[in-house]
Amino acid sequence: MNHQLYDFGMIGLGVMGRNFLLNVADDGFAALGTDINEDSVKALNEEGEGMNVKGVHTQKEFVELLSKPRKIMLLVPAGKIVDKVIEGLLPLLDDDDIIIDGGNSHYDDTNRRYEYLKTKNIRFLGTGVSGGAEGARRGPSIMPGGDKSAWEDVKSVLETVAAKVNGEPCVTYIGESSSGHYVKMVHNGIEYGLMQLIAEAYDILKRVGGMGNDEMSALFDQWNKGRLNSFLMEISADILKQRDEKMDTHLLDLILDKAKQKGTGKWTSQTAMDLGVPVPTIDSAVTMRGISAFREYRQDVSKMFEHVHTPEETLTGEALAESVEKALYSAFIITYAQGMHLLAEASEELNYNLDLEGIARIWRGGCIIRATLLEKIRKAYSKRDGLKNMMATSEFRDELFDCRDCTVDVLTAAMKAGVPTLCLSSAFNYYESFRSARLPLNMVQAQRDYFGSHTYERIDQTGIFHTDWGK
Ligand code: 6PG
Repeated sequence: MNHQLYDFGMIGLGVMGRNFLLNVADDGFAALGTDINEDSVKALNEEGEGMNVKGVHTQKEFVELLSKPRKIMLLVPAGKIVDKVIEGLLPLLDDDDIIIDGGNSHYDDTNRRYEYLKTKNIRFLGTGVSGGAEGARRGPSIMPGGDKSAWEDVKSVLETVAAKVNGEPCVTYIGESSSGHYVKMVHNGIEYGLMQLIAEAYDILKRVGGMGNDEMSALFDQWNKGRLNSFLMEISADILKQRDEKMDTHLLDLILDKAKQKGTGKWTSQTAMDLGVPVPTIDSAVTMRGISAFREYRQDVSKMFEHVHTPEETLTGEALAESVEKALYSAFIITYAQGMHLLAEASEELNYNLDLEGIARIWRGGCIIRATLLEKIRKAYSKRDGLKNMMATSEFRDELFDCRDCTVDVLTAAMKAGVPTLCLSSAFNYYESFRSARLPLNMVQAQRDYFGSHTYERIDQTGIFHTDWGK
């Protein structure tokens, strides 16, 4: 009996996997899925009715129905489950079949799996997929790294399902080994930074400016039509105006101020620390999620330090809104600059050989950090080979400088009013630090030499020096 063979397979039919597969089928490929959860398989068959897509219940049937070399994507939770699924598949696969891990796996795990699967003659692509459930259905940004020949074989599928910007697909081969998952991790680090910056802007407008949710929603909408245009601004405007279904109030006001995290932001900070690349805005965003988690402690402490903040003069109304827009825009630039700088250094240290222009290009659509600004970032990298930090390029230098004084006003007003701004101020201070020809770290070197004989260098003489301090 002749069975139809399928072009592309998906293991893991949660909402992301199902949507990605329906997207594959929309684009004319025969798509096959499986999941240990029977309801997910049923949901795929129902949602895909009338389309060239099918859900099956066993891995054996799944593998038999795929055309060779098999192209199998996994969208299962990152961690041990990925290894378990791979081990289950291996006895059923043939040489040169392709496994694509589409989850948010740690790049160390991806390196290990890439090397291991090479020994089994299986081609592996550690692939970042961004855009959430809606992106998976309508067109995500896709960051595949690993076996180059596997990329050539899956390119037509991934290019067709990916989001498009000016007709260009938001997918490109990122590089060897774990580079795809590394780039997706940094994408998420930037995502953490931008989200926290928007949250701080919201807090300032609310607590310094006394603005209501609907007013802020309209303001965010307006900003989203300008240079801050981005997916995260757009959804934040929507969030601000959403009413609760039962209570006569905005839903946002009923949401507990405690943010969870799956780890990609923290991993970005960890690798940045390891490579010695400063990403303080991303670190601050991770830290704020940590501080938010200590909610009970914050409740107690807030009672002990209760006092009313009544700054004498403060920014209000349109002046505040204009200044916050500038502070936010410059902090957006700085957050992308930190992420791109990390990628530039990681490219050398980890031998990824990354094309930074290409990465900015595929982030312009489909993914969570998509923003009009990314076209400008792409241009900055396209013009300069070896560019590491984009802050001082002609594209950004004048804008950053133009936003500086307003950012100071916003931060001053926020501090006077007792509104925490860890991310906004870390972005600002990162910029100020790089703008400082001389930092006070001469003091740190002197202290190190004082208590630990760690030596220091001088600005007036070459060589290594030590002083018997205080003698
Ligand atoms: C994306 C998102 C996606 C996921 C985050 C959430 O690019 O589509 O980044 O991967 O929503 O991992 O991360 P946290 O749970 O850590 O906030």
